[in-house]
Amino acid sequence: MKHYTILGIETSCDEVAASVYQTEKKVISHKMYSQTEQHKKFGGVVPEIASRIHIVKINGIVQDALDAAQCTLSDIDCIAVTSKPGLPGSLLIGTSFAKALAGSMRKKIIAVDHLEGHAFSACIENDIPFPFLCMTASGGHTSLYKITDYGVIETLGTTLDDAAGEAFDKVAKMLKLGYPGGPIIEKLAKEVDFKDFFNYPRNKTTNLMFSFSGLKTAVLYDLVKQNAYHLKEKTLITDDYSLKQKVASSFLHCVADIFVDKIKKALNQDDYKGVAFVGGVACNAYIRLKIKELADQRGLPFFVPSPLYCTDNAAMIAFVGHYKAQQNKFDSLDFEIL
Ligand code: KG4
Ligand code: ZN
Repeated sequence: MKHYTILGIETSCDEVAASVYQTEKKVISHKMYSQTEQHKKFGGVVPEIASRIHIVKINGIVQDALDAAQCTLSDIDCIAVTSKPGLPGSLLIGTSFAKALAGSMRKKIIAVDHLEGHAFSACIENDIPFPFLCMTASGGHTSLYKITDYGVIETLGTTLDDAAGEAFDKVAKMLKLGYPGGPIIEKLAKEVDFKDFFNYPRNKTTNLMFSFSGLKTAVLYDLVKQNAYHLKEKTLITDDYSLKQKVASSFLHCVADIFVDKIKKALNQDDYKGVAFVGGVACNAYIRLKIKELADQRGLPFFVPSPLYCTDNAAMIAFVGHYKAQQNKFDSLDFEIL
């Protein structure tokens, strides 16, 4: 294996992150600035605000990552940067910054797909045998992948509408719980011991495709039925905490069942040597437990990244950059964002 020191940069949404990854030492540093506070009052990410904050923060975060790794730009062999998919304005900040650095310092550059980053994020801390089944669930994406080698990904299923994390965020918004919704819903659900109070509909799709918008509508209609939600004014008209707990636990139960059902179907269709669960939603301890139980039943090892590598981060981008560098897959400075 060739020796490389990679600087990873991630700015696809509302996080600006940088990480230094080295062949022998793996992740040496990892720095991130999250804009959650600035977007909270809008109940979701505002693209224009995200890119403006990226401009202000990116230089400092990259410098912090270099400092924490006790290196300078001259020690870096290659810059790996997220080029797709994401908010165009946000992607432009990261890629323009990376291109300017690479051009002026004569560094190699690698454009990385954010989803490939998530898909391999469980490999940062684990040696996962190929092929493995990877469930990716974040605020923008929900996909099942068959991963047969570094960079070799087959998409088995994606969502037909909302992403899983987006459903958490929308249900939390409906319940006036705040943003991001996933951790708040998880906390509330835990308080009532995960009982299935409302029987929300499970995924009706028979293949490996996901759908979460029907579930979101079912939650809404149930709230309306309880006289807790004003449909026309789109506002919650109750402060009943126990109702919120019941909705949260029923919703979480339902999402976990949907994941387990699809993963079961995928495992029945092919041979795998492991199961991984990645992306922001993989921070959820209950869903993790349910997928682990399934993997255990099948005698398969289960892998989930540390929470730090579940949500958007630059270590996963540097990790992909590192194996692409090993494969000699570099890009020219004129690559485009998508
Ligand atoms: O991977 P990520 O940081 O960003 C995207 O690439 O989208 O994922 C963020 C998503 C949000 O929708 C958030 O609500 C969800 O991950 N999330 C969770 C939990 N923590 C974060 N969902 C369920 N349970 C959690 N504990
Ligand atoms: Zn992501």
